[in-house]
Amino acid sequence: MSKPAYDQPFWEQLWSKTLREHADKVAQRPPNAHLTREVVGLPPGRALDAGCGHGADTIWLAAHGWHVTAVDFSASALAHGRSTAEAIGREIAERIDWVEGDLATWTAQPGRFDLVVSLHVHVAGSVEAMVRRMAAGVAVGGTLLMVGHRPTDPTTGAPTAAASQVQVSVESAVAALDRGEWEIVVAEDRPRALAGTGVDAVIRARRHVASSRP
Ligand SMILES: C[S@@+](CC[C@H](N)C(=O)[O-])C[C@H]1O[C@@H](n2cnc3c(N)ncnc32)[C@H](O)[C@@H]1O
Repeated sequence: MSKPAYDQPFWEQLWSKTLREHADKVAQRPPNAHLTREVVGLPPGRALDAGCGHGADTIWLAAHGWHVTAVDFSASALAHGRSTAEAIGREIAERIDWVEGDLATWTAQPGRFDLVVSLHVHVAGSVEAMVRRMAAGVAVGGTLLMVGHRPTDPTTGAPTAAASQVQVSVESAVAALDRGEWEIVVAEDRPRALAGTGVDAVIRARRHVASSRP
């Protein structure tokens, strides 16, 4: 069987089917555990959730005082996120800008965000280039948090649900971040809570110097 392209039509179809058939389960999904663990102590400011999907993490950030730009190329996922936020309340909804955009070309204004998160996003092309694009949006003193599901389970060697995807790895993120500009705070593979589903690569970095690149 040929592997999916993980392009816009793939994700749009997957989200519209999932939200049509399992909206109740989607609504119950808690925010990402790596996000809550890594971000909880940071003072809220401007955040970018790149590849926000149905918005559970965006909404958690907004509920914790962040003003969030939530980017995804699935209109169905964004519509679900927007209506969920509105149902929770105006205060949360007003802190979120839902943006339909392709992260292969959509770029943040340099240094605009105090926090850039990108969780479980498969990118077409070079992962290191994606990490650098995300990193460019982080302000001095700000944080970059990227999480990727590794393609094989290290305990069994079996392929995971992310087997044919290209998600961020510790190695690719560490290679992409210039140590003159970034302090790598966390760079580790963490076993997933559900045994046999593999590990997540978690990278948290803090920008300490403005980018020297134009
Ligand atoms: C596995 S889901 C993860 C969603 C969310 N970050 C989470 O952890 O629950 C990947 C998301 O990335 C989005 N995505 C993938 N490639 C993208 C791209 N090039 N531009 C914008 N969004 C993209 C998909 O539409 C999907 O919502």
